[in-house]
This record gives sequence, C-alpha cells and structure tokens, in this order.
Amino acid sequence: MLLLRVQRGRLRSFFWGTVFISVMAIISTVFYGRHRMVVNPRAVSETEISQQTQGDSPALPRYETPWMNRVVGTHRNCHPRNNFIFIKIQKTGSSTVTNMLQRYAIDRELTVMVPTCTMCALSWPTSPERGMYLQSKNGKYSAIVHHTRYNKTWMESMFPSDTAYITVIREPFGHLKSVFNYYHLSGKLLQRKVKRPGDENPIQLFLKSPFEHRYVIGYKHCEVTFERTRNFQAFDLGYKQEWADDEGKAERFLADIERDFTLVMILEHFDESLVLLRRLMCWELKDILYDSRPKKQRSYAYKDYKPSDEERGNHEEFNKVDYMLYEHFNRSLWNKIISEGPAFFTELEYYKQLNNNISKHCSDSQAKRGKLIVPSSEWTTEFHVSDEFCYRLRTKRTKNLDGPLRAHLVKSERKHVFGRCLPMDQYVVLKGNTIATSP
Ligand SMILES: *[C@@H]1O[C@H](CO)[C@@H](O)[C@H](O)[C@H]1NC(C)=O
Ligand SMILES: *[C@@H]1O[C@H](CO)[C@@H](O)[C@H](O)[C@H]1NC(C)=O
Ligand SMILES: *[C@@H]1O[C@H](CO)[C@@H](O)[C@H](O)[C@H]1NC(C)=O
Repeated sequence: MLLLRVQRGRLRSFFWGTVFISVMAIISTVFYGRHRMVVNPRAVSETEISQQTQGDSPALPRYETPWMNRVVGTHRNCHPRNNFIFIKIQKTGSSTVTNMLQRYAIDRELTVMVPTCTMCALSWPTSPERGMYLQSKNGKYSAIVHHTRYNKTWMESMFPSDTAYITVIREPFGHLKSVFNYYHLSGKLLQRKVKRPGDENPIQLFLKSPFEHRYVIGYKHCEVTFERTRNFQAFDLGYKQEWADDEGKAERFLADIERDFTLVMILEHFDESLVLLRRLMCWELKDILYDSRPKKQRSYAYKDYKPSDEERGNHEEFNKVDYMLYEHFNRSLWNKIISEGPAFFTELEYYKQLNNNISKHCSDSQAKRGKLIVPSSEWTTEFHVSDEFCYRLRTKRTKNLDGPLRAHLVKSERKHVFGRCLPMDQYVVLKGNTIATSP
C-alpha cells in the first residue's frame, strides 16, 4: 500500500516534470532556438550530431531534442569543432589568437597545415602550393593558423566541409598607425633619412592627401597588388586592391564573409569575441585563455594620436572597405552576443577574472608558483594550471609552439620559397586606380 503510494507520487512528479520540461522546451525554441540557428547555421552540423550519436563522448548526457544542442557548459551535448581556418590578418592582435589555436591543436593532436620553413607565412599573398607546407600522412588537414589570405576555392578543396572560418579585425585608424610603425612606412613616405621637425607623426602628412602618397607605399608581388595602408584587412580576407572604389563589390564581399565565417572577432571587444568563439566552437574556457598581463609594448611617437575630423574623413574615404568591414562585423558580433541571452555576460565576467588570475599565476616564477586548480563550473571541467600550460600561454612567438604541430608531419619534397616570386617590387606609377610597376 505504502509502496503503491510512493510509486504514484513518483509517477505524479514524473508527469509534472515532463509537462514542465516540455513547456520550457517550447519557450526556448520560440525565444532562442530559432534565432540561434539562423545566426549560426553551421554551429551544429550533421556530422557533429552523427559523430555524437556514434558515442564519441560517452560521458556527456544526450538530449534528443534539437533545441538543446546549443546548450553550453559542462553538461552540454554539442561536439567540439576541430576543423578550423584562422585568417591571420597582420597587426590586429592575431598572434594572441594564434597562440590559443596552437595550444588547442596541440592538446587535441590536430593536423595543422604548417609552412615548410620555420619562420614563414604559410603563403602570402597567394594560396600555398604543394611543397610550401609539410605533408600529412593521409593528405588531410584540420586547421590553418599561419598567415595566408582567404581563398574560398582553394580552402574548400583542401579542408572538410564543416571547417569553421575565423578571423580578428581591428578599428581601422588604430590599424593604420600600427601598420605605419611596424612596416617603417614613414621613412618611405618622407623619403629622407635625416629627420626634420614635424616628421614624428607621418600619419598627419599621409592623411593630408592619402591618394597622393600611395605611390611610395604600394606594392606588387606575385602579380598581386596591395597597399598596406588601404583596405589591408579586407585584402587578407580575399578582397582585391583593384576594387577599392567599388561599393557594390564591397557589399557582396561583406555578405560572403558573413555567410562563410563562423566568427569575425573584434580586437576592441576581445574578451566578448573569445567567449563567443568558445560557445560557437563548443570549446572549453581553458582553450580561450591568454596572457592578459600588460606587455612591454614597443611605443612610438604617434601611438595615441587622435585624428582631426578632416584626417578621419580622408581616411574613411581612402580606406572605405575596411571601415565598412569593421562597422558590419562589429554590428554582427553584438547581434550574436545578444542572441546568446543574459548568461553570456555571467560567463564573460567569470572568464575575465579567471584569465587575470591565471595570467598572474603564470607570471610568477616557476619556483614561487603554487598549485592552481580551476574547479569545474558551468563553463569548464576542472583543470590544473601546469607549468607546461603557463609556458605555452606566455609564449610570444608563433614558431615556438610549432614544434609539436610539425612533429607528426612529413617533410615535403620541395623547399619552401617564400611567396614564390621574389623580389617584391615597389610600385611607383598610379593612374586612377590602375597600377604600373616600376621598371
Ligand atoms: C585561389 O585558389 C584557386 C584554386 O586553388 C587558385 O586557382 C587561385 O590562383 C587562388 N587565388 C589566389 C589569389 O591565390
Ligand atoms: C560596436 O558596437 C557596439 C554595439 O552597437 C557599440 O556599443 C560599440 O561602441 C562598437 N564598438 C566600436 C569599437 O565601435
Ligand atoms: C580570482 O582570484 C580571486 C582572488 O584570489 C578570487 O577571489 C576569485 O574567486 C578568482 N576568480 C576566478 C574566476 O578564478
């Protein structure tokens, strides 16, 4: 009798539990599910679902209903995405992202397509040919983290169809200053070795009339023309320099990148971008940690320079596609964040704290470092911050983490020739938007 009553009680709570879950399911589908699927249709591909049902991750509980697929956290059932191509755009904070992706690839033993020579870009500005990267045993690859331009045709022919495309871009004026400094463009612009008063800020001179100054700082290389000061971010995403004034082409280009890329991160919203990356890729929090301690950065005279309205206007006109790119993908980033719901910001807060704590821990000398174990939480399984982990986190140079990635690849039969076609000619004559090389 008692037993029967207990069982009836259980049955009743089971019944109400089921009703509750169903109602929650409907609510979630209406409010989040549809929108999320539209925002990132590639987030859960059929292969991922089928891999999962084949029992790749037996420890994870399985939810049969598709709306649960985007649940993140420890008890999620999404499957980590292990095929990705990172388009590493110059001077956008991309080395920090590369470090993360290298660590991820080492941990998961992914086959990364690495350049034959240790200090090279994979290939730039054209796509790599056989012989420029080490051969994998089965001819297949799952990731790219070294410099190369986005080339959909080539990448789709070499990588699986569920590959995630990722990049990071930066506010265009900050990018201009960084590019000017890094590539020593002021010497080229001023065309004199001895400095005169006013020379400290070449940006002012350049932005007085950027169209006039192009001729000293533009290039043609491997039959491809590019300008480091003009739409140089869009260039690495495959946009042609010759289309700088074609807004129609620019609009189509943005739509293509929006469709092809899982995420375009924004340097000015770096932590938000990374938390979103983790969620879209179904990774762990430890995969997106980076050394957030202030670095000793090379400083230069015009680093904090703010443009006048006129300079800003000239830059926007000259560098139009990069400004369009930035505005489009900043909006797109925030739309994606909003559609993640309020829990995103709880995770973000936790992530920032954790990142600071671990960066601080790792900055202590190995002897002084205590033991640090990050407890399991809604967003991560428990993990131990080891000395090896700290070493990798704090590595500044890309090539330092290439070793383990290169280890299981085979030497290719041909030597890497950087970019194939040396030397790089600086171009000197401009007619309208067409470029003639110097003889
Ligand atoms: C892009 O890839 C295609 C196919 O491999 C190739 O023919 C083309 O030359 C590549 N474009 C560039 C700019 O490298
Ligand atoms: C990006 O967009 C957000 C939301 O519209 C805005 O608050 C933010 O200022 C923008 N960021 C930059 C760096 O322009
Ligand atoms: C970071 O460290 C502080 C101080 O030790 C601690 O109170 C906090 O809980 C830590 N936060 C995380 C997310 O690790």
